Amino acid sequence: MCSMTTDDPHPAAVASTSTRIADRVAALMARMSLEEKIGQMVLAQPGEGPPADTLGGPVRDGRVGAIVNVVERDAVSELQRIAVAESRLGIPLLVGRDVIHGFRTILPIPLGQAASWNPELVRAAAAVAAQEAAEVGINWTFAPMLDIARDPRWGRIAESPGEDVFLANRLAAAMVQGFQGESLAEPGSIAACVKHFAGYGAVESGRDYATTNIPENELHNVYLPPFKAAIDQGAASLMTSFSDLDGIPATAHAGLLREVLRAQWSFDGFVVSDWHSIPQLSVHGLTADDREAAVAAANAGVDMEMASDTYARHLAEAVESGVVAPETVDAAVARILAIKFRLGLFDSPPDKVGVAAQAASDHALEVAEKAARQSVVLLQNRDGALPLKPSELSSLAVIGPLADAAYEQLGTWIFDGDPERSISVLAGIRARVGQHLDLLHEPALATSRSRETGGFDEAVAAARRADAVVLCLGEESILSGEAHSRADIDLPGAQVELVRRIRGCGKPVVAVILAGRPLTLANIVDEVDAILYAWHPGSMGGPAIADLLFGVESPSGKLPVTFPRTVGQIPLYYNARNTGKPPRPETVVNIDEIPVRAPQTSLGMSAFHLDVDHTPLFAFGHGLSYTRFEYSDLRLSAARLPLADALIVSVRLRNAGPCSAEEVVQLYVRDPVASITRPVRELKGFQRLRLAPGQAERVEFQLHADDLSFYGRQQRRVVEPGRFQVWIGGSSNAELGGEFEWVEN
Ligand code: NOJ
Repeated sequence: MCSMTTDDPHPAAVASTSTRIADRVAALMARMSLEEKIGQMVLAQPGEGPPADTLGGPVRDGRVGAIVNVVERDAVSELQRIAVAESRLGIPLLVGRDVIHGFRTILPIPLGQAASWNPELVRAAAAVAAQEAAEVGINWTFAPMLDIARDPRWGRIAESPGEDVFLANRLAAAMVQGFQGESLAEPGSIAACVKHFAGYGAVESGRDYATTNIPENELHNVYLPPFKAAIDQGAASLMTSFSDLDGIPATAHAGLLREVLRAQWSFDGFVVSDWHSIPQLSVHGLTADDREAAVAAANAGVDMEMASDTYARHLAEAVESGVVAPETVDAAVARILAIKFRLGLFDSPPDKVGVAAQAASDHALEVAEKAARQSVVLLQNRDGALPLKPSELSSLAVIGPLADAAYEQLGTWIFDGDPERSISVLAGIRARVGQHLDLLHEPALATSRSRETGGFDEAVAAARRADAVVLCLGEESILSGEAHSRADIDLPGAQVELVRRIRGCGKPVVAVILAGRPLTLANIVDEVDAILYAWHPGSMGGPAIADLLFGVESPSGKLPVTFPRTVGQIPLYYNARNTGKPPRPETVVNIDEIPVRAPQTSLGMSAFHLDVDHTPLFAFGHGLSYTRFEYSDLRLSAARLPLADALIVSVRLRNAGPCSAEEVVQLYVRDPVASITRPVRELKGFQRLRLAPGQAERVEFQLHADDLSFYGRQQRRVVEPGRFQVWIGGSSNAELGGEFEWVEN
């Protein structure tokens, strides 16, 4: 488990560091006017032209304390110089940017990183991004995004850690560690901003910015914990969500910001609004105008306003007229300044920012490649179609709109990504086997959305000439991300038709799917032999995928989110509650076979759809390997134990297949009888380990009663004694299980 990150690992030193910072903040604030204080609460973007032309004046006047979207090293440097040398108090700037999954070197989208189930790798990925961003003077990223997402239609699922709380908690801590390093003041560390607080992932029908309806238990058990995990790891800031929660937009939600965040979690970083989300309070219908919006946000606990200017225009008057307490402003400013001190901005000249490297470092490329490799999930592999064996092939057709799409494989939020650094799947394959195999490349479709099938004949001809086909399908970058939700999540354009035409050639077909979300694949699973799901893998996607295709390494990614068969099943997630009428395993109905005038009760009367199998197409945690892992001999350290004692659950894992590979061993638990109904399974542990062929190891997990606590009827977390079920295996369908009982001490 990751340990708490502070400016100094020794508690006494930490206390004295924060006392020193508190003293320095207080001394500075004693010299500040109300206007200068409010200036620190303003995060401004540049207008047209050189950033210093539009931001230089307000920075000099102390009316802006933070800037966003200035990424040119010299421009950042100049604005910092103005802030430090020309403003009355010389307060340096926070320089914010969406550094989401890389800066110049792009790592897999966050959902892809989550598929690696490798917190250490995710930490390293965030550290690479932080390092490259820090080189141009960025000192604050708007990441990690920690919105649990159970709806693949939502475009922002690409940025999310997926559907599971436990996995998200681990990744949240890892990302904060990666961005912030051991200390914010160390070179290459930037401040993290966890977002979007809270519940954004639950937007209705996956439509971005839509309403959310989240019952309180669900909010506390599912949506809030990743934020808590990031805050416990020392996250410096937090962003509110655009969405509204039970009628209160998150940007004015005092219950979330003051009660949960400050009172219960003791968060001492600062809170920033989302882009224009303060004036949008009036669009939501909560406030009548910008002034009311500014008052509502400030009083709810939003310390800084992003991009819009309601604080700049109304806060001083609101304080003077008594509707916002001066203490509210003081507390906000103190929190913002404390982060500036922790970043060391007052101690080393922030205008002397480093020189951005022209080329990616070997380390950045290595991490990007490893992350891409471990994020790819082998969804299906009929008759060992993969890995491809160059010795058995003389030619290979590489077909599809995303085969040679270096830019499109980068995914959403790549403002600063360098497309020149990106290596396509085709280029990766060429580099790996180009000398031994005849490669026939045909895009077949101009883009992933194209319906123009004029290129199909050449593609079919290439498939006929080749010994095997790699079909690169999916979604272009622009089809996922913010405000890019889709109602139909089949492969877009004419890609399904392409698959069928290629299938008709009778060659082994391997689909490599690059996408920002789970797509509904039911209409192609039977048409292809193998599926490698690569998400948007980033700059090093090509080499990583080539290694997996040719078995240099075995796939080892596992799904961080359930793949539905069809959109009508959404939301479909593994950790649902049982209901009073769960479908039975044999409940599969084919709508065409329902007898005419079938009696009302003859079809089973349970929670399923008549026209689709009730199971997912691919379950949470699923991911195949080129080897065969055998799970056996599950052991529990006790059948009955007091709540104060930890339970050890272990399993024997053996690599019974032909190659060395990594497996992600997963531990699931169920609380079958509780004071509120609990999920049918919940992930409570995972470990990634490598085994050589024939090698076996005992994998051990420790469970504490607190790990099974939940937010219950009494609006607080409870630990309830009783009987529990456990399973260990390679997916959420793990079958090897046992039972134990936790009794009052
Ligand atoms: C709006 C997005 O919701 C947020 O995630 C992002 O950080 C800001 N824009 C800044 O670009």
